[in-house]
Amino acid sequence: MKPQTRVLPDSNQLIIAATEQFVSTARNAIAKRGVFYVALAGGSTPKGLYQQLAQSPYRDQVDWQRVHFFFGDERCVPADHDDSNFKMARLAMLDALPVPDSNVHRMPTELGEAKAVAVAYAETIKQTMQSAPFDLVLLGLGPDGHIASLFPDTPALTVTDTITTDLYVEKFDSWRVTLTYAVINAARQVIVFIAGEAKAAIVHDITTQTVTGLPVQKLAPSGDYYWYMDQAASGQ
Ligand code: 6PG
Repeated sequence: MKPQTRVLPDSNQLIIAATEQFVSTARNAIAKRGVFYVALAGGSTPKGLYQQLAQSPYRDQVDWQRVHFFFGDERCVPADHDDSNFKMARLAMLDALPVPDSNVHRMPTELGEAKAVAVAYAETIKQTMQSAPFDLVLLGLGPDGHIASLFPDTPALTVTDTITTDLYVEKFDSWRVTLTYAVINAARQVIVFIAGEAKAAIVHDITTQTVTGLPVQKLAPSGDYYWYMDQAASGQ
């Protein structure tokens, strides 16, 4: 499925544009339904976006009490580990926002087994959101075309009967838990957030269809679908 693409001249303008989109989506969801359910991306790219959201004026534009933060994926490490996506988001944004702790739903990696984390997290999503879809799923793009922890040639790509799954990622020698396509595609809005020259090759291969069948290319969002990137990543 082809996304609507927005290319910004540099990483700072990309962050501002994506921050404004996030705030607008959050405000609309809260106005319509009284709540905003968002799944955050991990990795390094979104850190700047999270830091911007935690600063004025953006932090003053959302009723954070009505926001529920989830995570699109997580490394199976302790919540205070430097590799933790939760820790990255907590330090970049969550600690600075007036969001109730009960509205921040990290993956319970303290359970140990990745499978147990995946099962417990699926329950948390269902109990918190009931049958509502995510209002927004934020995704980064890996250089191999992965999104969340939906890595190429892994069983996670074919899971259809659950909203979360666990997987072992050989190249990182690490267990991960990820949202599956079913729940990402059901979101009202999906944003893939891409920055930097290091992503130009994968972006080129995808946009020219030089490569096909990558995890990001299997996305089929039923709602709004955007790619936000800077010129360095777009190769323009
Ligand atoms: C993770 C992420 C992963 C990330 C991409 C891009 O846990 O690593 O969820 O999907 O978004 O690998 O990572 P960068 O933003 O660091 O390039």
